[in-house]
Amino acid sequence: MLYTEKVMDHFNNPRNVGVIDDADGVGEVGNPVCGDVMKITIKVDNDRITDLKFQTLGCGAAIATSSIVTEMAKGMTLEEAVAITKRQVADELGGLPAAKMHCSVLATDGLKVAVDDYLKKHGRAPIAGEILSEDPNFDPHAEEAEQAVAAETCHLHE
Ligand code: FES
Repeated sequence: MLYTEKVMDHFNNPRNVGVIDDADGVGEVGNPVCGDVMKITIKVDNDRITDLKFQTLGCGAAIATSSIVTEMAKGMTLEEAVAITKRQVADELGGLPAAKMHCSVLATDGLKVAVDDYLKKHGRAPIAGEILSEDPNFDPHAEEAEQAVAAETCHLHE
């Protein structure tokens, strides 16, 4: 299993680690399969995320994806932040091994929960939509299986 240099950089030197004490929104999520957990705190000004910090108790991919998502979301509007997909997070890191794609769900879900927490505290409707890690039907290995089938298919056609 190979990690890109960027994944290793964000794993070894994670950005924006910690907790914002006077956070405007807090998101805490757990991966139902492996039990890894992530907490993200955000500051919001005029519906734009001005600061984020995270704490992730998890694998290297979970730490790297949490770190990069804080960099991606800083300065975004709330709508833009909740639209970040796990695929975009992986792409920003130069890719993740198929078996680790599900780890990036923690980062995007944590951010979504934090945004909705902010909106809820202000009496506003949630915008994050589906929180994958809370979905009882979420299969973190579905993508891995899909990619394995695709790889096998390619191989058969060589
Ligand atoms: S193995 Fe749990 S998030 Fe990566």
